[in-house]
Amino acid sequence: MSMPTMLGKKVVITGGTNGIGRAIAILFAKEGSDIVIVGTNEERGREVINSMIECQIDDSQNFIFNSVDVSNNGEVESFSKNILSKWGFVDILINCAGITRDKLFITMKEEDWDIVMDTNLKSVYNVVCKFLRTMIKRRYGKIINISSVVGVIGNAGQVNYAASKAGMIGMTRALAVELASRNICVNCIAPGFIDSEMTKKLSDEQKNKILERVPLGRFGSLDDIANVALFLASKSSDYITGQVLIVDGGLTS
Ligand SMILES: NC(=O)c1ccc[n+]([C@@H]2O[C@H](COP(=O)([O-])OP(=O)(O)OC[C@H]3O[C@@H](n4cnc5c(N)ncnc54)[C@H](OP(=O)(O)O)[C@@H]3O)[C@@H](O)[C@H]2O)c1
Repeated sequence: MSMPTMLGKKVVITGGTNGIGRAIAILFAKEGSDIVIVGTNEERGREVINSMIECQIDDSQNFIFNSVDVSNNGEVESFSKNILSKWGFVDILINCAGITRDKLFITMKEEDWDIVMDTNLKSVYNVVCKFLRTMIKRRYGKIINISSVVGVIGNAGQVNYAASKAGMIGMTRALAVELASRNICVNCIAPGFIDSEMTKKLSDEQKNKILERVPLGRFGSLDDIANVALFLASKSSDYITGQVLIVDGGLTS
């Protein structure tokens, strides 16, 4: 068996209650991390905590679920105070919470725009600024933002989503430059189409059309993304910052 790579690391995962975030949480639990997952669905939160306990490698690992709406700065503030009073600091911050409200731009309402921007992009501001001070003080940190290929190449019906995900990329690059001298690495993962609840909403016809454009001929798995998150959180990527790692089976090649 290989050595666990994330032993004792303190990790916050927004959107850890489902899909990609859940897969990341479980993989990091297997690697020995202490983990806080954030989402709004309490039942799913409890399920992920139980799944993490089942695969932990050390009884002393600490798993916490906090019900937080990441688009709400006040809720994030009290959440971060709670975690920092318990842990004192966080090593790794993974911003994975996200939603879609797909429709053609011509019919897009202001609330469709606002909720997607607030949940996908403003949330990253809300969360990062609360934990950054302790990272700066310790001169260590890794911030991983889950963007999307849609933020790189666009997609009809997803103007709000594409804008939020492209915003994450700009934010990542600028933050990386600001924080490099403090030994804090900031990177994005841009998944392509992943087998998940988000893509279950697509019709078979839509799915087949997408697959024709993916050279590897399949949707990505949740683990395809979790493994890249583990790499970006680990020592193996210490010289990588300000990058967008596209994990899309060749879609954008
Ligand atoms: N699936 C794909 O093909 C794909 C492709 C590219 C990028 N991505 C990105 O990857 C991330 C995860 O996607 P997924 O497919 O795993 O989606 P998912 O299964 O729908 O999970 C979304 C997660 O975000 C959380 N979330 C949503 N709104 C929130 C809020 N206001 N406050 C706190 N948490 C909130 C959800 O938690 P609760 O339900 O508990 O609130 C859930 O844990 C998203 O950012 C998505 O844009 C996905």
